[in-house]
Amino acid sequence: MSTFNVAVVPGDGIGVEVTAQAVRVLEKVLAGQDLQLTYFDLGADRYLRTGEILTDTDEEALSKHQAILLGAVGDPRVAPGILERGLLLKLRFDFDQYVNLRPSKYYAGVDSPLKAPEGTDMVVVREGTEGLYVGNGGVIRVGTPGEIATEVSMNTALGVERVVRYAFDLAESRERKKLTLVHKTNVLVHAGKLWQRYVNEISAEYPRVEVDYSHIDAATIYLVKDPQRFDVIVTDNLFGDIITDEAGAITGGIGLAASANLNPTGTFPSMFEPVHGSAPDIAGRGIADPIAAIGSVELLLANNGYGEQAARVGAAIEEDMKWRASNGSPQRTTVEVGDAILALLD
Ligand code: NAD
Ligand code: IPM
Ligand code: MN
Repeated sequence: MSTFNVAVVPGDGIGVEVTAQAVRVLEKVLAGQDLQLTYFDLGADRYLRTGEILTDTDEEALSKHQAILLGAVGDPRVAPGILERGLLLKLRFDFDQYVNLRPSKYYAGVDSPLKAPEGTDMVVVREGTEGLYVGNGGVIRVGTPGEIATEVSMNTALGVERVVRYAFDLAESRERKKLTLVHKTNVLVHAGKLWQRYVNEISAEYPRVEVDYSHIDAATIYLVKDPQRFDVIVTDNLFGDIITDEAGAITGGIGLAASANLNPTGTFPSMFEPVHGSAPDIAGRGIADPIAAIGSVELLLANNGYGEQAARVGAAIEEDMKWRASNGSPQRTTVEVGDAILALLD
C-alpha cells in the first residue's frame, strides 16, 4: 500500500477549528489506508512569535506532500496582506496552482437569501496565479498629494489558455455542458480580448459545449436573480474571488463553500481549502460551520485518486443538508456538525 502524504495547515482563527473536523473526516474515510498527516505551524501565531511567514524550508517540506489541506489565514493582529500574500498567495503562485476550482450547489430546503435557489449548480473556474493578484505595482510620491499607487493586472497567453482549456474540459464532462466567460471586456479591453480570443479558439475543439459571456457586473445580478443560468464559469483571479463569495452566499452560506487550488500538471501539490477566511468575528466560539472544510476534503480525495471515498463524503454532506432542511437549520457547534458527518460515514 503506498503512503498518502497530506500536509495540514490549520492556519488562523476558525481555520484551526474547521480543519480539526475536516481531518477527522479524512482519517475516517481513509481508515485502513496508509495516510500520513504532517502538521505545519504557519500563520499569525508563528509570525508574531518568530517573524517568519513561510520559509524556503517550509516550502520545500510542503512540496514533498501529495496534497495540502489548509484552513484559513489572516489575523487582526497582523497588517492586511502580510499573511495573505506571504503565505496563501505565495503557495498558490509557487506551486503553480493555476486552477482555483469553486463549486456551488444548492441543496433543497437549505437556508438561502434567494426566493428560488432550487437547481443552482455551478462551478467557478477561477484563474489562480495571475491577474491583479501578482503584485505588479507600487507607490511613488508617498505622503504627498500626488501619491500614486498602481496594481497592474497580468494576463499571459499561457496562463489564460491553460485555465480556459481546463474549464472547457470540465464543462464537457458535466451534464449541461455550458461555459460562461465572466469578464469586463467592455472596459478592460486588453485583457478582455485575450480571454475572449482563447475562449473562441478553444470552443472550436468543444463543439458540444455551449458558450456564453457575461460582464462581471451583470453576472452579480444574474447570481441573485437567475443563478440557474450558470454551469461552468471561467474568469480571472479577482472577479473569481468576488463571485465565489456571492455564489457561496446564495447556496446556503460561505460556511458551505469548498475549494481546490489545483496544479493540474502534478508538478507541485494541489491545495484544498474553504472559500472563507479566518472569520475573526466568530473565531474561538466553536460555531463555525466546518462543511466548507469537509467539502474541501471531498475535493482533495477526488483529485488524488480516491474517487469512491470522495463520493462518500459528498453523500454525507448531502445527507446533512437534508437534515438541516427538515430541522429548520438549527445552530450547531463546529464539533456537532463534525460528529454528524462522522456518524453518516459509519
Ligand atoms: P471571512 O470569510 O473570514 O468572513 C466573512 C463572514 O463570513 C464573517 O461574517 C464570518 O463570520 C462568516 N463566516 C466565514 N466562514 C464561516 C463559517 N465556516 N461558518 C460560519 N460563518 C462563517 O472573510 P473576512 O472577514 O473578509 O476575512 C477575515 C480574514 O480572513 C482576513 O484576514 C482575510 O484576509 C482572511 N481570508 C483568508 C482566506 C483564506 O485563507 N483562504 C479567505 C478569505 C479571507
Ligand atoms: C480567497 C481569499 C484570498 C483571495 C485572500 C485571503 C488572499 O479571499 O481565497 O478567496 O483573495 O484569493
Ligand atoms: Mn475570497
